[in-house]
Amino acid sequence: MKTQAEQVVWVQAVSYEDLAFNTGKTIRYQDEEVALFKLRSGKLQAIQNRCPHKEGVLAEGIVCDDHVFCPMHDRKIHLPSGLVQAPDTGCVKTYHTRVDDEGTIYIGFPTSEEMAC
Ligand code: FES
Repeated sequence: MKTQAEQVVWVQAVSYEDLAFNTGKTIRYQDEEVALFKLRSGKLQAIQNRCPHKEGVLAEGIVCDDHVFCPMHDRKIHLPSGLVQAPDTGCVKTYHTRVDDEGTIYIGFPTSEEMAC
């Protein structure tokens, strides 16, 4: 069985201290775009940056607790799971994050195409 470290490439994103609370930050790696959030609790969440409805930029959305509201048509997305909340449907990919000893945030990008929401 592979470990998490063997299945992802860790990409340096931003300093934890420089990331504002409840404000999204767009992180790009190859052809993937991720919305990174630091919630009020201090927890990090990283999701696919494009809304499944009409590709609204989720890093520009409004964060409330552990959800983000798409800035285009207000769909509500649960950050830990990536699930669009009822009455709408759909999902976005979620990504692992980690913070090193210097306080730098890394996002884990999967090395295979298996990752789906
Ligand atoms: S593009 Fe996100 S709700 Fe329409």
